[in-house]
Amino acid sequence: MEKLLVGLKRLEYRGYDSAGFAMDDNEIWCEDDDDDDDEEEGGDKKRHDAKKVIVCREVGKIANLEALARKELFGKDDDDENEVKASKSKSSNGRKKSSSSIKPLDFCASIAHTRWATHGPPNKINTHPHTSDSRENEFVVVHNGIITNHAPLRAMLERRGMKFETDTDTEVIPKLCKFLSDKFEESGEKDVTFRQLAMEVTRQLQGAYALVFKSTKYPGELVAAKRGSPLLMGISDDSGEVSCVIDGNLSDGAEEDVLLKKASGNKKRKSMTGGAAAAPAADADTTTTTRITTTTTTTTNNPKVEFYFASDASAMVEHTKRVLVLEDDDVCHCHDGTYKIYKVEKQKHPHPGYTSGHDSPEYGLYKPVVLSKEVERTIETLEMEVESIMKGEFDHFMQKEIFEQPEAISSTMRGRLVLDVLGAAERVMLGGMSQFAATIRRSRRIILCGCGTSYNSAIAIRQLFEELTELPVTLELASDVLDRRCPFFRDDTCIFISQSGETADTLKALEYAKAKGALCVGIVNTVGSAISRATDCGVHINAGAEIGVASTKAYTCQIVAMVLVALSLSEDSRSKHTRRDDIMQGLLKLPGCVKECLKMDAILLELAQELKEEHSLLIFGRGFNYATALEGALKVKEVALVHSEGILAGEMKHGPLALVDKHMPIIVVCTNDGSYEKQQSVVQQLKARDGRLILIVSDDDTEMEKTAPDAVILRVPKVEDCLQAVVNIVPLQLLSYHLTVLRGHNCDQPRNLAKSVTVE
Ligand code: AGP
Repeated sequence: MEKLLVGLKRLEYRGYDSAGFAMDDNEIWCEDDDDDDDEEEGGDKKRHDAKKVIVCREVGKIANLEALARKELFGKDDDDENEVKASKSKSSNGRKKSSSSIKPLDFCASIAHTRWATHGPPNKINTHPHTSDSRENEFVVVHNGIITNHAPLRAMLERRGMKFETDTDTEVIPKLCKFLSDKFEESGEKDVTFRQLAMEVTRQLQGAYALVFKSTKYPGELVAAKRGSPLLMGISDDSGEVSCVIDGNLSDGAEEDVLLKKASGNKKRKSMTGGAAAAPAADADTTTTTRITTTTTTTTNNPKVEFYFASDASAMVEHTKRVLVLEDDDVCHCHDGTYKIYKVEKQKHPHPGYTSGHDSPEYGLYKPVVLSKEVERTIETLEMEVESIMKGEFDHFMQKEIFEQPEAISSTMRGRLVLDVLGAAERVMLGGMSQFAATIRRSRRIILCGCGTSYNSAIAIRQLFEELTELPVTLELASDVLDRRCPFFRDDTCIFISQSGETADTLKALEYAKAKGALCVGIVNTVGSAISRATDCGVHINAGAEIGVASTKAYTCQIVAMVLVALSLSEDSRSKHTRRDDIMQGLLKLPGCVKECLKMDAILLELAQELKEEHSLLIFGRGFNYATALEGALKVKEVALVHSEGILAGEMKHGPLALVDKHMPIIVVCTNDGSYEKQQSVVQQLKARDGRLILIVSDDDTEMEKTAPDAVILRVPKVEDCLQAVVNIVPLQLLSYHLTVLRGHNCDQPRNLAKSVTVE
C-alpha cells in the first residue's frame, strides 16, 4: 500500500479530484491457516495467491485516501501511530484479526489511480478503480483516457442484466471483462488467459486508454494495455536481469520459450520453471485521465522483481530507472515474475457503435478472436533524478520551478549554443534538426501550434521566426486545427510545442498535419512522449520535470529553444549576421538576467499583498511582449483564481479602455524595445483615465516614471528585444505565485485543472 500511495502522490499533479486503489487481501489467505510458518519453511510450499481484492477510494487529495486506508484497513488513525504495531487490526470488511496472521503474498498485483473527472462528478462512486461488481471485485480496472463508445457498450451490458453503479465511461471496461469471461466459459473456452481476455475487451473499445486490469480469477497477474494515452513500464529487479517470455509470431497461447532479457537488449536462454517459482506483486496507479503504476515483486528465493506501470516516469523513478515506453495497441502481461508484450493485430472494428450482430458477443457462443504478435520494446534508462520531483527547500513546486529558470535555460542551451575559445557564442548546433533544416527553409510557411502556455510561447517567438527565416509564420491553437480543418499542405512546416508532449489537442493536430503531408517538428519537454515520438524531428527543451500545473520554466525554455531553432534556420544568411550574433551573445547573458529578476521576489510579494483582494487585473503588452501579457494573465487566472486579461496594447482603444477607472489595476509591459514609444502613449492614455498602473520597465529607464509618477515601477534587466519576453514574464510569475498563496489557494494543483490534458 505504501508504494501505491507514494506512486499516487508523485502523480497527483496530473489529477487530484479523488483517488483509489485495489490490492490483494492477504488476510483471506491466512485467516484459516494456522500452520503457515511450517509451510513457509517446508518443502510443500503453496503459493500465497490472494483470493479477494480490497478496493479503497476517497474524494480529494491522496492524503485523504491514505488516512481512510490506514483507518479502515489497519484500524489506525493518524494520531494513533502505536496502534499500527499492535496485534489487532481490522480488515476491509470490518473483521478484527491478529497481525500475525497477515502474511506476505508470493505474488501481489495492485493498482491505483488519481482522477481528474471527465464523466461524472468527483465523488467516491466515480473514483477508480472500477469493478465488475463492487461486492466481489472480480475484475478491477484503472483507466487514463476516454472511452467514446461507452454508451452503446453500457446499453448492451444493461440489456444482458448488468447493473451499473457509476457515471463514468470506464465502468464498461470491468463489466465487459466479466461479461466476456462468463461468455467464454459458456462457450467452453476455459483456458482463456488474462491477456487474451483483456485483448478481447480492448477490441470493443473506441477512444483513448491506458489501462491496467486485475482480477481475482487471475491472482498475482496484471495486464496493461495502451492506445492513445501514455503508458510506461518500469522494471526493477535485484539481478539487473528480467525474465521475459518470447514466443512465436502470432500468439495463440502455444508453448512458450522463456528467455532472459538484459537491459542492454542481449538475450540468453534461462528456464523459469522449477522450485523457486517467482512471487510477483503488482501495483498500479493511474488517473482517469492519467496514470498507472504496477509492481510485480518476487519475495521468495528468486531475486525480487517488480514491474511498474505509470502514465509518467515520476511515479516509478524512486524504484527503478529502467523503463520501456509502451506503444499504441501494446498489451503487456505480467505474471510469475515475467512480462510479455504483445502487439494487437489491426482488425476492422466488428460492430462500431455496438449494434448486436453476428460478430457481437451479445448473443450466442463467442470465442476469442484477437490476433496478436509478441514484440520487444527497448529498455531505456531514465535520466530523471528523484530530487527533480521533490520540492526541496521550496514551499511549492511552482515556486521551485520559477526559481529553477536560470539553470533550466542554461540546460536548454547546453551543447547547442557553441562557444569560441574566448567564450563568445559562435553558432548554434541542433543535432535533432540539422538534417531537416534545408527542407524547413524551403517550406511555403511555418505554422506554430500548441495550447495554453505553449501557444503563448509561439506568440512570443513568431516575430523572430518571421524576421530570421523570412517565411510567413502563422499560429494555430491546436484545439482549433481540427475544428476548422485548417488547410495544411505538404510544403508546410508545422512546429508543435508542448511541455508534456501528451496534450490530446496538440497530438490530434499533429496527426492531422502528418496526414496532410506537412513536415512536423516538436518542441517538447518530456522525452519519450507521444509528440516527441510522432514528430519528424525536433528539440527537447531540457527544462527538467515540471510538476506545478502552472507552466513556468517550460515557457521560458520553450522560447529559448525556439530562438535556437530560428538561429539555426538562418545560419546561412549574411545579411542577418550581426543580428544573429547579437542574439547569440544575448542568450549567453539570459540566465544571469533571469537570476537578477528573481531578486525582485520580495517586491512582488508586497505588490501581491496590495492586490490580493482585487477581482480583476488587466495586462497590456505588444510586439515581443504581447505574449508576456497573455501568459501573465493566464498565470494569474489559473492559479490565483483572479479574472485577468492579457491585451494587445494596440487594441486598447478598440474596447478594453472602457474598463479603465481608478480601481482597475493594470500592468503595462513597456520595456525598451521597438514598441517603447507606442507603449509610452498607452501609459499616458491609461493615466488620463486614472488607471492604477504597474509598469514593467527596463532597468535603465528614466522616462516612464515621469510619464506616470504614481505608478508602481518594476525594473527588469534589459536584454536583446527578442529575448526580453523571457525576462519580463518572471515578475508576473512571482506575482501570480504570491497572489495564490496569499489568497489561500493551491498553486500546484489549482481548481479544475490537470497538468496534462490528455482528453480533447
Ligand atoms: C499552463 O500553465 C497551463 N497549465 C496549460 O495552459 C498548458 O500549457 C497547456 O495545457 C498545454 O500543455 P502542454 O504544454 O503540456 O502541451
